[in-house]
Amino acid sequence: MKRRIFFGVSATCAGLLYFQLSSRAENVDSGRTLYLKYCSSCHGKDGRGEGPVSPSLKVKVPDLTTLKKNNKGVFPLSRVMSSVDGSQSVRAHGEPSMPIWGEVFKKELKEEKYRELTTLHETRTIAEYLATLQR
Ligand code: HEC
Repeated sequence: MKRRIFFGVSATCAGLLYFQLSSRAENVDSGRTLYLKYCSSCHGKDGRGEGPVSPSLKVKVPDLTTLKKNNKGVFPLSRVMSSVDGSQSVRAHGEPSMPIWGEVFKKELKEEKYRELTTLHETRTIAEYLATLQR
């Protein structure tokens, strides 16, 4: 009897672990997909700022692979999220060259029931993908 419970519990744990790992892998994947779709034209496929559009911009596109290094070794997740969704302006003065993605996502999600939440989720998924590009 005890044995059976033990097997039952370990099978559940393995199942949960598998579920966690696979959903995490999925997250990284869709983070990458979102990044390539919305961000790589300026920030480059590798995040270093050399996308095809960047030479035509007035401002230099920042390297997104050094955000952690430049923040004392801690990836600034919430700052990245707010510069992406526009709740924090990326530049103190002048017209920002980067679109306000929060608004773009929200517009594209017109059919979605939970627009605010999905926008937040997409922003976070991209930010987490950026965390994996840090060098
Ligand atoms: C049209 C070009 C363009 C696109 C597309 C773009 N960015 Fe940017 N991004 C910039 C520029 C230029 C800056 C520098 C700030 C400014 O002048 O607006 C910037 C700044 C940032 C910053 C702030 C960096 C720092 O040092 O704090 C983050 C984070 C960022 N971008 C992430 C993203 C993400 C994620 C996407 C895709 C959802 C994206 N960017 C798409 C041009 C772009």
